[in-house]
Amino acid sequence: MIKQTVQDALNEQINAEIYSSYMYYAMASYFDSISLDGFSHWLRVQALEELTHVQKIAGYLNERGGRVNMKAVEAPPNEWDSPLACFEAVYAHECKVTELINSLMDLALAERDHATVSFLNWFVDEQTEEESNTDAVVQKLKLVDGNKGGLFMLDREMDARTFVLPAELTGVF
Ligand code: FEO
Repeated sequence: MIKQTVQDALNEQINAEIYSSYMYYAMASYFDSISLDGFSHWLRVQALEELTHVQKIAGYLNERGGRVNMKAVEAPPNEWDSPLACFEAVYAHECKVTELINSLMDLALAERDHATVSFLNWFVDEQTEEESNTDAVVQKLKLVDGNKGGLFMLDREMDARTFVLPAELTGVF
């Protein structure tokens, strides 16, 4: 049976992952409003991916005899000054999520909950990828520097992203 402290912290992480999804959907809507459909598509895929993170944690909690508890989700911003400002916010958010995962890992280690340490290793690796992918978009937007042709090309590149349902979640969604 999972300890209450770890259970509570994992429930907090579920809330953070749902907020991430909610915020990325708000960002997709911002890009819809400025007709950059490829960026919108990329962010909607990201929003879906965040929901798979929610399910991974919920599934793990259930497996360990815990209970999922949903809480109020904070309202995200709805406007950004530019595509670059928006993606700088994406990158900053992912860095914040990395810190949350690190704190969760610290707690699991302190509680000698090795099963949760093992479970969280996937999230540690995922955050390296999330930071790298979002920073890459920031760097490209800086290179483009507001140039309409460059932005159009980048928008097409963003449109190529596909959503891949993790194998272990087949049949869950
Ligand atoms: Fe679930 Fe983007 O971290």
